Amino acid sequence: MSRFWSPIVHTLTPYVPGEQPRVDGLVKLNTNENPYPPSPRVLEAISAATTRLRLYPDPRATALREVIAARYGVAPEEVFVGNGSDEILAHMFQALLQHEAPLLFPDITYSFYPVYCGLYGVRYQEVPLDDAMRVQLADYRRPASAILLANPNAPTGVALPHAAIETLLREHPDKLVVVDEAYVDFGAESAIPLVARHDNLLIVQTLSKSRALAGLRVGFAIGQRALVEALERVKDSFNSYPLDCLAIAGAVASIQDEAWFEESRARIMASREALARGLAELGFDVLPSLANFLFARHPGHKGADLAARLRARKILVRHFNKPRIQDYLRITVGDETQCSQLIAALRDLV
Ligand SMILES: Cc1ncc(COP(=O)(O)O)c(C=O)c1O
Repeated sequence: MSRFWSPIVHTLTPYVPGEQPRVDGLVKLNTNENPYPPSPRVLEAISAATTRLRLYPDPRATALREVIAARYGVAPEEVFVGNGSDEILAHMFQALLQHEAPLLFPDITYSFYPVYCGLYGVRYQEVPLDDAMRVQLADYRRPASAILLANPNAPTGVALPHAAIETLLREHPDKLVVVDEAYVDFGAESAIPLVARHDNLLIVQTLSKSRALAGLRVGFAIGQRALVEALERVKDSFNSYPLDCLAIAGAVASIQDEAWFEESRARIMASREALARGLAELGFDVLPSLANFLFARHPGHKGADLAARLRARKILVRHFNKPRIQDYLRITVGDETQCSQLIAALRDLV
């Protein structure tokens, strides 16, 4: 603490990201990273872009917005890009969510959302998930300015179908509906096709998970032009160049490598199903996940104990010490070897 702090700094409860320890031989299943390297075309594009380091990057990242627009069937003016989807979410809280009526989001979801509310003074209400950790649309029929859903949800992995998002949009035409699709590429349905018909829909995605580029920091949002303009106004009042020239080049190459994308996500989805079967055979309750992680608990063991005992064997999973989910472990789907190591360790422990 210091007498130089602005008053708001005293009130902040910052987000705590998953650990990134440097330990040899660690089986790291705690931050939902992709276990495989990104497309080799990304590395080539980044290497070629190093000749441009002397210059400022394109502040609009036009090349990237164009390939995303072409890939998802929207106009480049309907695409916003940022330094990871976290930065886009931050701009969105400031640009679109500071209203009198509260923002609604589930009681169990991405724990950065309440942090942004604190930073930007956004009023919010948490809407409990049902006992099966599902979003019940009827619970959102209450006064609000906006609804924010991660789909699939984190840390549960449970997804809503496209039709449910459409129902939500139809029931709430005057609320902004934001869908955080960080994990959508692992088998869930994206709501991007609904953007053309709904001016209250904003989708946020990331290249961190399905495209194995968490270290490059690239995310994007898709929505009608007026929503994108709001994000651009905030961005241009904050940082003209959130994406450096290496990130733009790498992200363009990644979006263009459809074959790599399809192969890598299929492999992770297959590993997820095998891991879910392995956990169920050991007596875990495993929530149905369409993400690159599983959320599971064992009726005979406390979540914190299991996480600590795995850690002692150099296996890191994520445990949240929060009501309703303190007995769950969130386990990132690793490569085939990592998944086998986890199952072997748990076989000894449960
Ligand atoms: C639901 C959700 N949204 C957004 C993000 C942020 O991703 P990034 O900033 O790497 O794009 C994460 C990261 O774990 C997440 O779980």
